[in-house]
Amino acid sequence: MELIGERAGNNISFWERSAQNFCSAPVKENLRADVCVVGAGIAGMTTGYLLACAGRDVVIVDDGPVGGGMTGRTTAHLVNALDDRFYEIEKMLGKDTARLAAQSHTQAIDRIDEIVREENIQCDFERVDGYLFAPPGASAKTIEEEYDAALRAGLREVQKLPGPPIIQHVDGPALRFPRQAQFHPLKYLNGLASAVARRDGRIFTGSRIVSIKGGESVRLETREGYNITARAAVVATNSPINDRYVIHTKQAPYASYVVTFRVGRDVIPHALFWDTAQTAEEEKKLLGPIPYHYVRLAPDGEDDLLIVGGEDHKTAQAFDFEKRFTHLEEWARRHSSAVGQLVDRLCGQVMEPVDALAYIGADPTGDENVYVVTGDSGNGMTHGTIAGILLADLITGRENTWMRIYDPKRKTLKPIVIADYAKENANVVAQLRDYLTSGDVSQANEIKAGEGALIRDGASKLAVYRDESGTLHRFSAVCPHLKCIVRWNATEKTWDCPCHGSRFDCLGHMVNGPASADLEPIF
Ligand SMILES: Cc1cc2nc3c(=O)[nH]c(=O)nc-3n(C[C@H](O)[C@H](O)[C@H](O)COP(=O)(O)OP(=O)(O)OC[C@H]3O[C@@H](n4cnc5c(N)ncnc54)[C@H](O)[C@@H]3O)c2cc1C
Ligand code: FES
Repeated sequence: MELIGERAGNNISFWERSAQNFCSAPVKENLRADVCVVGAGIAGMTTGYLLACAGRDVVIVDDGPVGGGMTGRTTAHLVNALDDRFYEIEKMLGKDTARLAAQSHTQAIDRIDEIVREENIQCDFERVDGYLFAPPGASAKTIEEEYDAALRAGLREVQKLPGPPIIQHVDGPALRFPRQAQFHPLKYLNGLASAVARRDGRIFTGSRIVSIKGGESVRLETREGYNITARAAVVATNSPINDRYVIHTKQAPYASYVVTFRVGRDVIPHALFWDTAQTAEEEKKLLGPIPYHYVRLAPDGEDDLLIVGGEDHKTAQAFDFEKRFTHLEEWARRHSSAVGQLVDRLCGQVMEPVDALAYIGADPTGDENVYVVTGDSGNGMTHGTIAGILLADLITGRENTWMRIYDPKRKTLKPIVIADYAKENANVVAQLRDYLTSGDVSQANEIKAGEGALIRDGASKLAVYRDESGTLHRFSAVCPHLKCIVRWNATEKTWDCPCHGSRFDCLGHMVNGPASADLEPIF
């Protein structure tokens, strides 16, 4: 990797290749502000922007560039057709919550649309239809159930069709969700950054926040020891760095894979597609758990790119990267004869909440005047925008009807949620077996250039990376968050923690919270 924290993985996304990095200076003195936002992804930038629009003196701090986290690796579908399905949300949280969830995501897309026009942001924003369909051979029951639940949630324009357009070899019914949207996420964030700067907001990149203490005045500290004092702080680090336990027992990190292909311009009309694989119990029985797929197009010079995602699994708990990329490629070629040259492959991480909705609001540990946004699932573009609207309202004292459904303190006592909570937390405990197992290799000379592996060293484990010049870099394999053992991600060349999703680049630098420290170097 060229720069510390430049991006959250070794592979470069189309967005990262096709937009400029928005970088500014790091924090070099103590600062004061009305609000300090930590993290310059979609959640932090939208919150900072809306607070700046409300006349607040805003400071935004990121340890990388703007958009160097998961917002640089997303596929940026902007949807009110939620990944977790309205009929599931109804079962877990009730009809009223499903309705407010639909309303909030619809308004998030509308707000992005308004911001793009008002700030004149050239980010390829376009309204498109979205199609939800069952994979070949699967039951149509999910589609039927989702249609009824979407109507009950207030999405009155959703239509049932005999099948999706464009996607070949699919026989079941489909749902059409009108007025979804898509954009280039990094061009959008760059536009927000310029709009914040025009309103005298201050953006600092290359500065890591290592401590946040709430109170009447919130005190944040950078790694270099500078203090930022603010009336409120927003922790928008994708996974909160200020809370060690509470929120991390209610969400789990999942890796998701993306492949990109060249297709001719206008060969495939722009639209969004999602299949229902893995979300339907019936399909699991029929077909086994098939990871789901999500598809969109994006303009790239003379061509369009087809961007296909899916093959999710729990972070650092599967290592068959090649197989997963191959599955995605085979799936894309089977379902569209227009698919051309493969141009990109990468993976990223999403935070899956136990009950489908993000956690947005006052810090659940009760830290005064500290707010968090996390758990944004595969709908982080709209959840991040909802966070901007909701947190700006909370901080400026305005009423917001979404506060209850996104409250990070909420407890959902439905048996399916409790079962998921228990399963995810048992999975975390199970990862502690890594303290007893042997290493991936027994000696460093077995590690090839550009690769990493765990080596047992007495009672402890070392994370060892050999760089391209042959030099070895040794770290304690103990994750600084809550001390699980990290594992090597050979496709992104990162050390990933299977417990709560902290990730570190090959040289041990943190690229994903909840950890805020690097892996400890061993000399
Ligand atoms: C493969 C993939 C596909 C996806 N597809 C979609 C999609 O189609 N639609 C959708 O809505 N969502 C999608 N998502 C989810 C979405 O991309 C994310 O939920 C969203 O980008 C998260 O935004 P964020 O602002 O919360 O976090 P990030 O973008 O990760 O931003 C957090 C920022 O905090 C900074 N940071 C972390 N720790 C510190 C610290 N200690 N000090 C200072 N700064 C710090 C990081 O550098 C980073 O820039 C996808 C995700 C992936 C991985
Ligand atoms: S992320 Fe929690 S222990 Fe590593």
